[in-house]
Amino acid sequence: VAEIEVDLEPVEPGQRVTVTWRSQPIFIDRRTPERIAEARADDDAPDLRDPATDASRVQREEWLIVVGICTHLGCVPDGQMPGGRRGDWNGWFCPCHGSHYDTSGRIRKGPAPLNLVVPPYAFLNDTTVTIG
Ligand code: FES
Repeated sequence: VAEIEVDLEPVEPGQRVTVTWRSQPIFIDRRTPERIAEARADDDAPDLRDPATDASRVQREEWLIVVGICTHLGCVPDGQMPGGRRGDWNGWFCPCHGSHYDTSGRIRKGPAPLNLVVPPYAFLNDTTVTIG
């Protein structure tokens, strides 16, 4: 399937859901204002290994959509499930070798070289997004 349609209506603020696109997990994070503020506050952080502003990584600030595959060696990072490890920046933590991603999915610490990838997507309306 080249493109999938996701209904965002049931996703609450602060909730993360995972869908599958081209056999890859896609992390969808409905970010709270706190998480958005954290991401923006670090736009110029000196430790960004793969520098990118938060605004360049989202189409709508409330919704972060990234491929849930660690850019080191391809493990699926923790942090999607309630109680899962989110690492030192409240984002995602890859348990394989300890990469920490922030609330924009940017790599902050550990061996991964690049940010979590933003897949192609488009909003059809406020509660429907297509990925692919
Ligand atoms: Fe994620 Fe190595 S695969 S840190």
